[in-house]
Amino acid sequence: MSSKQGSQTERAYFDGLMSDAVSVLRTAKAVDKAQMALTAADRWWSRTYDRGSRPASPPDIPARPAEPVLGDPKDVPKRRLGSAEGRIALIHAVAHIELNAIDLAWDMIARFGDTAITQLNLGHGFLDDWVQVGEEEAKHFLYLNQRLEELGSYYGATMAHAGLWDAALATKDDLLARLSIVPMVLEARGLDVNPSMAKRLRSAGDGVTAEILDLIYQDEIGHVKIGTQWFHKICETRGLDAKTTFESNLRSYFKGQLKPPFNNEARELAGLPLSYYDPSEPKRPKAWDLN
Ligand SMILES: [Fe+2]
Repeated sequence: MSSKQGSQTERAYFDGLMSDAVSVLRTAKAVDKAQMALTAADRWWSRTYDRGSRPASPPDIPARPAEPVLGDPKDVPKRRLGSAEGRIALIHAVAHIELNAIDLAWDMIARFGDTAITQLNLGHGFLDDWVQVGEEEAKHFLYLNQRLEELGSYYGATMAHAGLWDAALATKDDLLARLSIVPMVLEARGLDVNPSMAKRLRSAGDGVTAEILDLIYQDEIGHVKIGTQWFHKICETRGLDAKTTFESNLRSYFKGQLKPPFNNEARELAGLPLSYYDPSEPKRPKAWDLN
């Protein structure tokens, strides 16, 4: 095969993946969305695409199921884990985060994949990483959905947080901003809270759900690592100072505060520098103080 033919074939694979990523985003039913994500990942790993897939633009807001009703987080049921209802509420809230995470991973491919390949020359490694993330998020959702069913409930039964796509929308035009806020702030926050949730579930006698959270935790360390590595790589490619860029994105796109306690061990495994998030770090610039 000539190199021109080779690059045309590569481009066809890439278009097939982009097209599948948009299909994930456009799938409304939660289980169907997760299944579409697994199919899209399979097709990428095995390079089985029909000829002539033409990627469409990703929707700014992905399709979502009619249920759950979305609302203010303060109206989402409290999570007292001593009761089955409390455990269901907690699992439902995490399932909702995972459904959102499926869309975040595939939006990364659909929205930024072309820029990553053609302008930033990041190669297929960038796509491989986000396909892996998108596949794992789909599995996380399906495990939790199955657990909800085992406990007599289902995803959609409880009100869920309306604001989880806000950060994606705010960063839809800026890959470095997306990486700063989604994996390096929001998913890193997940690493801070996951082990205590698993511990509380075990204390409440629900080791089965705790094991699912353990698995999610291990995968999520990898997701934060992938996001942080690409953030640093792109900063290097563009000749930007990574820490300054991260701090600037935080000021522009993150409205809250980075709240301790931080899981430094997991964050270190994910390659997230302590000086990026810990307010007690002596070299922390004044500009970090957000309100
Ligand atoms: Fe996840």
